[in-house]
Amino acid sequence: MRVEPLEPEHLPRLLDLINTHLPAVVPGWSLTAEFLETHLKRDMTEPVTDPWVVERTTLCVDGEDGMRAAAHLLRYGDGEEVGEALRGAGEINWIVSHPEYPDAALAVLTTAREWLAVRNVTREEVWGGGMFVPVFCGVPDSWPHVVSALETAGYRTGSERREALYGGSLNGVPEPEGPPVPDLRLRRSPGASGTRFSAMLGAREAGYCEIVADLTRDNALPALRGWAELAELRVDEGWRSRGIGAWIVRHAVAGLRSAGCERIVFCVAAADEAAGAGRFYRRFGWEVLVRETRSWSRQQRTS
Ligand SMILES: CC(C)(COP(=O)(O)OP(=O)(O)OC[C@H]1O[C@@H](n2cnc3c(N)ncnc32)[C@H](O)[C@@H]1OP(=O)(O)O)[C@@H](O)C(=O)NCCC(=O)NCCS
Repeated sequence: MRVEPLEPEHLPRLLDLINTHLPAVVPGWSLTAEFLETHLKRDMTEPVTDPWVVERTTLCVDGEDGMRAAAHLLRYGDGEEVGEALRGAGEINWIVSHPEYPDAALAVLTTAREWLAVRNVTREEVWGGGMFVPVFCGVPDSWPHVVSALETAGYRTGSERREALYGGSLNGVPEPEGPPVPDLRLRRSPGASGTRFSAMLGAREAGYCEIVADLTRDNALPALRGWAELAELRVDEGWRSRGIGAWIVRHAVAGLRSAGCERIVFCVAAADEAAGAGRFYRRFGWEVLVRETRSWSRQQRTS
């Protein structure tokens, strides 16, 4: 089993391997060759942390019938400009493998560990597989062969790292009606992640959501056309269960529909889901697409 650095001639085979994994997360999602080539040099989905990367490599095990496993490794700088959590750290940014070749995944993980060890990284973490595309960034349960390779190689995670990827159609969501609370008005403004829809009571924001209406990254990911992301949603504790959350979401969805979006996708942390957010979202007809765990490390985590 030969683990080697990815060369340009491997790219089409890596693309095939990745594009058998992505639709097991969100049906219809795939990468283009151009996007993958760019992603290996610069991660457009991480504008804050990617400039901190000082070294990156992709390792692979190729085979006659296609690529068997590949992992993308990053090493972050140790300067002041690097956020504390990543300063001097090393990361397996993603790993994918052919389900019939578990040894290939283990060989890639062993070489990855050696690559990180000789660089004396302060922390070693595995993020997952979702780093190729926006929205999801863990190891999904629908890649059991990857989960099994990580566990066999000694990586562990914790239940606090569990989350669900929800998604569905915008069609069944009713148009917004009048405000559920007297004097509530809607404000639309630019937010930190996307367009912010706020439920305002006078000058006070009682709740908000943020929406990203285009996930194609300037057409670099055409398979994601028509999808939007619900990036954040929150209603102040004292104002919950009065219909404000549903009213904000209905307004946001009406805006998305008029912009030509058809479907939505978003992450929900396991704790929020258990507290009632899952029930809230299912009322719009949105369901769990996949569950995933973000961030695995070789120190034992307990939950
Ligand atoms: C989820 C949330 C935005 C709903 O806002 P809201 O104004 O209470 O929503 P509505 O009044 O329209 O709907 C109420 C439903 O929200 C859900 N809900 C209520 N309290 C909740 C809580 N603490 N956490 C999560 N969901 C809750 C329930 O399904 C509830 O229905 P029920 O009253 O029949 O049980 C709000 O509860 C919240 O901010 N929760 C914390 C943050 C969060 O979970 N955000 C979503 C994660 S992506």
